[in-house]
Amino acid sequence: MPAKDLHEEPFDDGTITKLEIFEDYAQAWIPTFVMKAEPIICIFDFFAGTGYDKNGIAGSPIRILDKIKDHIGYIFQKRVKIRVYVNEYEPNKVSQRKHELLVKACNEYLETNQDVKRAIEILTYNEDFETLFPKLLPEIKLYPSLVYIDQNGVRFLSDKYLLQFEKMTQTDFLYFASSSYLRRLGHTEQFKKHLQLDIELLKEVPYNLVHRNLISQLTLRFSNNTKLRLYPFSIKKGTNIYGIIFGASHPRAVEKFLSIAWKKNDVNGQSNFDMDQDIPSAQLDLFGIQKLTKIQKFKSTLRDMVLTGQITSNFEALDFVYAEGHIGKHAADVLKEMKQKGEVSYIANSPCINYEKVYKEKQLIKFNLPKK
Ligand SMILES: C[S@@+](CC[C@H](N)C(=O)[O-])C[C@H]1O[C@@H](n2cnc3c(N)ncnc32)[C@H](O)[C@@H]1O
Repeated sequence: MPAKDLHEEPFDDGTITKLEIFEDYAQAWIPTFVMKAEPIICIFDFFAGTGYDKNGIAGSPIRILDKIKDHIGYIFQKRVKIRVYVNEYEPNKVSQRKHELLVKACNEYLETNQDVKRAIEILTYNEDFETLFPKLLPEIKLYPSLVYIDQNGVRFLSDKYLLQFEKMTQTDFLYFASSSYLRRLGHTEQFKKHLQLDIELLKEVPYNLVHRNLISQLTLRFSNNTKLRLYPFSIKKGTNIYGIIFGASHPRAVEKFLSIAWKKNDVNGQSNFDMDQDIPSAQLDLFGIQKLTKIQKFKSTLRDMVLTGQITSNFEALDFVYAEGHIGKHAADVLKEMKQKGEVSYIANSPCINYEKVYKEKQLIKFNLPKK
């Protein structure tokens, strides 16, 4: 398994993309539970690193503290206590320097940000994830929790850990995985003892899609009635493909993650590169036919499904949006255009395909096809 020490060098662009998605999700997650005045909420950073890179750029634990600071007023007003669990462990090293640096970085941050210090309880660990995760599981299950598993490699995606999240209703998680290593090393005993995947299938899909395929395979390991959904965000660094795996059971969490992912990449919402060759698709193919982009394909499929009566309301449209990893706006654009053309009618100014209208306000909008 790759065991590169990120802190011996500055964060690269791919790492910054990952950290930005991690922190954007914390930014969206914290107020959800603070505004509900939950007495205790928890954030777990199991692979926290040292706090900063060589150039002083903040890593995941400091970014988490910064996001807490952004919401500090409401945290006090609503009397919410945030427990922040940070862990850093060097498996094959005698020195615990990285853990010491982590503790120092967090303490220094809290000394200069006394408001954050008062708002949180910080718990620092120097333990192998393998032993720490089962110890902290009761806490993860008990409170609304956000869990970061920023591992090197892929090992901790094994059933022993991943399937635990299926049993939780108020936990969102972000994994990091070195997906393309699986193509090269997935057949070795070292990998096979942790992860049972179809490595041949991973090799058959185009290289750029390896992370997406990994997520499809992981999803197959869940039970049929699972509520847990996984979403990928692929990150290319040099020739390797890594990626974030976001998981949550609640549609509100799904909505938040997808909107962050589409803000990061408004062409495919799923990577820091052109994984589906959407950009050349502005051109004509060999036969002079316009190739559709990912968004165009989604819109065209949705239109067909409305016209054939497979999707009849904003509730069903939003289900389709989440299943396809899109955002409500893509679907709303389709319905508005169809209404303008007289292909469909609905009694509302907007088709209301978003979390607020569907899950909070429960405002059902029926899509009516013209009578023939
Ligand atoms: C990808 S880095 C994490 C980077 C960090 N999140 C940041 O933003 O800087 C993975 C970290 O996990 C640590 N680590 C490796 N194996 C571990 C294990 N079995 N349990 C806990 N930590 C481990 C490594 O020392 C390394 O600092």
